[in-house]
Order: sequence, then C-alpha cells, then structure tokens
Amino acid sequence: MEPIEDVAAGDRAGAAGRRGRYGIDGGLIGVAFFALVLAGAAATAARAARRRRPGLAALTGVAGAAVAGSAASYLYSTGRGKLSVWAQVLDELSLRGDEHVLDVGCGRGAVLMLAARRLPGGRAVGADLWRRRDQSGNSRAAAERNAVAEKISERVDIVDADARDLPFPSASFDVVVSSLAISNIPGAQGRGLALKEAIRVLRPGGRMRIVDEGADQYAAVLEDAGLAGVTVRRLDWRTWYGLPGHHLTLVAASKPPA
Ligand SMILES: C[S@@+](CC[C@H](N)C(=O)[O-])C[C@H]1O[C@@H](n2cnc3c(N)ncnc32)[C@H](O)[C@@H]1O
Repeated sequence: MEPIEDVAAGDRAGAAGRRGRYGIDGGLIGVAFFALVLAGAAATAARAARRRRPGLAALTGVAGAAVAGSAASYLYSTGRGKLSVWAQVLDELSLRGDEHVLDVGCGRGAVLMLAARRLPGGRAVGADLWRRRDQSGNSRAAAERNAVAEKISERVDIVDADARDLPFPSASFDVVVSSLAISNIPGAQGRGLALKEAIRVLRPGGRMRIVDEGADQYAAVLEDAGLAGVTVRRLDWRTWYGLPGHHLTLVAASKPPA
C-alpha cells in the first residue's frame, strides 16, 4: 500500500501539485461579475483622469484595486484555499487507508481526489447531479477525467445522484464528507433531507465532515438525529471567497457505534 503520510505531505506541499482541473465554485457568473466591475472601474478612472479630476480617478483606482483583491481572494479560495483546508481536515481523520468514503455533491472532484489519495486500499465515491451554475465545467465526465489525471481512477467511483435521495444502502460508508454542496440545495427542508441521507448511509462508528456556507446551522439537525461529538469550527482566511472576514464553517460529527 502507498504510505498515506507521503500523500498528505504532497498535498501540503501545495495544490500546485494537483493534476486535475477543478473549475470555479459558483460557476462563471462570479468571474464575469468581477471582470465587469473591474472594467467599469478602469473605464471610469481613465475618463476621470482625461477630464482632470484626480480625486475621482484616485477613488475609482482604489475601488478597482479592492475589487481586484477580492477577485484574487475568490480564485484562491475556490482553488488552493479549499484544497489546503480539506487536506488538513482529511489528515485530521487519520484514515487507515482502507475506508469507504462518500463525497456528497463532489462536483469535478477536488475533495474526492484528495480523499482517494489517502485510500490506497479503500474506495472514494462521489455523488452529484452536476449543476453548472454551482461550479464551472461541472460534469460527471470532468470528474472522471480528473480521477484519471490524478492516477487514482481505480479507487474512485462517480455516481449520478441527488443528495436528497442517495442510491446507497444504509450504513455503507466509513466517512461521509461534503464541500460547499448542501448549501446549494434550495430550502431548509431540502438541506435537511440531504443531511438525513448522509447520516443514513454512514455506518455506526463512522465519521462525517461538512465544510459549507452556514454549516453551523447543520449542527442541530445532526444532534437531533443522534450523531455524537458534533463540533462546529469557523475556518480561516483560506475560505474568505473574496470577502475579508467571511468564513466557511466545518461541522464534524460521528455516528455512535451500534
Ligand atoms: C460549489 S460546487 C462544490 C463541488 C465540490 N464539492 C467541491 O468542493 O469542489 C457544489 C456542488 O453541489 C452539487 N449539488 C447541488 N445540489 C445537489 C444535489 N441536490 N445533489 C447532489 N449534488 C448537488 C452541484 O452540482 C455542485 O457540483
């Protein structure tokens, strides 16, 4: 078996080492928004400079720089930031390497592949319905290509599935993870259904880790469903997604042994 420690060290060395292409969270609408605002600020600054209005030119220049910084932060969070947070979360699980791990709403597989790299004798299963407005270039084929690019396709399964109605038997996974997916499901009832499905497919003694927007709100649902050790952790600047002070949340829990 490939030593897990070496794999984790490779992740920490930088997401630059990844071979797959994982798209941009929020689809291309966010990128288009940043590009439009930046173009508007640049045009306004240039016009103000031509009309000899240095105050306005400086103001729009500063506003443009702030938007550029925000765009850079967004791109960082959706790429290296998210990968680095998840590498840490997965390391903290101290996986043996033979577990079955489910990634709910895996998208193009950024987190799924990180998990699979730690499972030389296990399986990583990704389930999604591939909404492109949630991630650019999102598709089952893109996730499959990434498993091949990362050279771990033999331990990865990709499944078409709605998180609210998972096509897996109860108690079939040792670990269930989900990254920025459940918040994309409309309505508290829909999100509650997805959480209940994630709990159902987790085996007794299994562990759950969710990183999401407002994931602290999931804690009560997990506790009400009988999960143990439910903890909520505010994540650091790596999850700012363009807004300094904005943080994603990690919720951790485990299913009591039978
Ligand atoms: C922002 S992307 C995150 C993808 C991936 N987890 C990651 O971190 O790179 C959100 C994902 O949730 C998926 N999604 C949204 N609603 C879903 C549902 N009801 N069932 C399964 N997946 C869903 C989208 O298709 C998309 O792939």
